[in-house]
Amino acid sequence: MATSGEEQQSQAGRHQEVGHKSLLQSDALYQYILETSVYPREPECMKELRELTAKHPWNIMTTSADEGQFLNMLLKLINAKNTMEIGVYTGYSLLATALAIPEDGKILAMDINKENYELGLPVIQKAGVAHKIDFKEGPALPVLDQMIEDGNHHGSFDFIFVDADKDNYINYHKRLIDLVKVGGLIGYDNTLWNGSVVAPPDAPNEEVCEVLQRLCFGA
Ligand SMILES: C[S@@+](CC[C@H](N)C(=O)[O-])C[C@H]1O[C@@H](n2cnc3c(N)ncnc32)[C@H](O)[C@@H]1O
Repeated sequence: MATSGEEQQSQAGRHQEVGHKSLLQSDALYQYILETSVYPREPECMKELRELTAKHPWNIMTTSADEGQFLNMLLKLINAKNTMEIGVYTGYSLLATALAIPEDGKILAMDINKENYELGLPVIQKAGVAHKIDFKEGPALPVLDQMIEDGNHHGSFDFIFVDADKDNYINYHKRLIDLVKVGGLIGYDNTLWNGSVVAPPDAPNEEVCEVLQRLCFGA
């Protein structure tokens, strides 16, 4: 059944129907935080990208609005200029990064799927920050290997955000530790996997975990 524009907008505001990716145990409290603190501070272009992404079938993969603002704050606090993102999807965390870094800041952005990036790209362009992004289509590991082999990128990244294939996180870390500068930051999304890391082995998988598992591990 087709939903009206108003219904789609309110779905985007409710973040995800299947639950949320925060560790808060109360959906109502999370919704309260979104409505009183996060959404009022969200730049118009971020809102537009969030609402556009909410209509996409894989929308559960997107960075949440609160995480986007946390990233943005973190980047500003450390004065990040040269950054990297592994796992772009439609670009919500990418736009949060692009808005936080200076005019001559750079983001090396990598994803195996260019189509989803191109979905969000017009919003990024309209926001006037597309010139900061160098998007590379394809798996990230070979790009990292090449950069290490070149030797020109050692210790050159202020901030790196990893939000891609989870089973490669250890392989990313082994390489990124060479590429991040001393005192720089590497952020890994989903390390607590919705709290399931401490769940008993026989605990039922939450629906949100199962969907993410399929999309991020292909399981
Ligand atoms: C959780 S989504 C990223 C969400 C994104 N950070 C955002 O804010 O919307 C994970 C992304 O990782 C990408 N991905 C999966 N395997 C990859 C790989 N080997 N190299 C680069 N990207 C990969 C997927 O195509 C997907 O777009």
